[in-house]
Order: sequence, then C-alpha cells, then structure tokens
Amino acid sequence: MAQPEQFAQGLSIGIIMDGNGRWAKKRGLPRTAGHKKGAEVFQDITRYCNEIGVESVYFYAFSTENWSRPAEEVGAIMRLFGEYLIKAFDYEKENNRVVFLGDRTALEPRYQKLMDEIEQKTAHNTGMTLNVAVNYGGRAEIVRAARALAEKVAKGELRPEDIDEAAMCSEMYTHGQKDPDFILRPSGEKRLSNFMLWQAAYSELVEMDVLWPDFTRHDLDLAIEEFNRRTRRFGGI
Ligand code: FPP
Repeated sequence: MAQPEQFAQGLSIGIIMDGNGRWAKKRGLPRTAGHKKGAEVFQDITRYCNEIGVESVYFYAFSTENWSRPAEEVGAIMRLFGEYLIKAFDYEKENNRVVFLGDRTALEPRYQKLMDEIEQKTAHNTGMTLNVAVNYGGRAEIVRAARALAEKVAKGELRPEDIDEAAMCSEMYTHGQKDPDFILRPSGEKRLSNFMLWQAAYSELVEMDVLWPDFTRHDLDLAIEEFNRRTRRFGGI
C-alpha cells in the first residue's frame, strides 16, 4: 500500500471540526469536554499533516454564527483557543507558517496580540501553512473583499473594469494560498456551513461518519484516499 507521504504531498485540505457536542453528550459529559478533546485532535492532526507533506490546511475553529451559543460554551472554546495559541505549538521546530482567517477584532485584545505575534514570527517558515479560522464566515469574507475593492475604486486606485477574480482573491484572508483540494467534514453532516465559500468553488467534499474528537490519523489517510479516487474536471469534461 502507498505510504501517506506519497499521496498527501502538496495537498491543501479544509477541515470542519464537527461533532464535539455529540461526542460529549454520548458520554454524559458537558459539551466543553468535547471541545477539549477536539482541540487535542486538532493538534495531532496538524502535526500529522505536516509530517505527510500537506501544503496547507484550513481548520474551522469558530464561525461568525457560533457566538449564538451559550456564553459558557463560547468562553470555553475561546479559552481553549488561547491555551493552544500560548503553549501547545512548537512553531519553530515544526516550521509551520500560521495564518488566522476571520475578523479578529471581536476577540479579546490579548488573543489578538498573540495572533499578530505568531503570524509575524512564523511568516518566513517554509513548511506547511496552518490556517485557523476564528470568528470566520465565508460570506463576511466576500463582503470584506468587495468593500476593500470598492474603497480602492472610490480613491481612484482601481477601475471597476479591473475587478476580476484575481482582484477578489487578493483581498481574501487566504490570498497567495492554494484553494482547498478537498474539504473534510466529519460527524456525518454534508454542509459547508459558511466555510470558505469563495475558495471551495472546485473543492471536493469528503464527509465521514466519525465525530471530530474520535478522528484519527488513519481517518485522515482514508479521507485522502477517498479524495484521490475522485476525478476532478474543473468544469471541463
Ligand atoms: C463544532 O462541534 C466545533 C466547534 C464549534 C468548536 C471547535 C473548537 C475546538 C476544536 C477547540 C478550539 C480550537 C482550537 C483551534 C484549539 P459542535 O459543537 O457543533 O458539535 P455538535 O454538532 O455535535 O454539537
């Protein structure tokens, strides 16, 4: 059988970390216990992606819609996010470039500061790009890009006829990065849930019947194998 490194090289993968709440409920635990285990899996899968030569990975950690959850749960997710920002990564050793997607201005100032520092510190790392979407929404990202281009037009820096797909891409949080080859959604759901709407135009969707806290390295191998079996036509025949 082919080794994971042989079929994962250069891939770009989006991951919707779903099923933390159901995982906890099945065990009679608070939902926050599911997020805690989910965060551990996030770290392990990040390391594995790096080891097998994935080019970039996009994790959906917190959406613009997730604020509507009970304050206690939002607080727990944010604390976990902060905790993993501070101590769980060894960015230097792993050579990852870290990029955060989303509107960070709604987050606590100390997290914003840390996010800026991590991005700056890892900007020249040459390994995998680890993208973490926090307070992220695909529609909000497209609106933000449209507004940025409109401002350039208003200032006379850009003509309306120069607005094309490349101009839009240049205003996305992901500018300069490859679109996801596939988007993986564990937990059996088959929705994008406002994740990378612009970038997912030709992404394959791979859904798996495993809750995120139970997700293993082997599950990622299976997802990559599934993607490699698909034939991508990009609108051609
Ligand atoms: C979706 O499961 C998961 C989330 C909304 C939060 C994901 C957050 C983490 C894994 C931890 C913090 C992030 C990092 C990057 C360390 P759900 O709660 O919607 O599950 P359910 O559908 O079973 O209720």
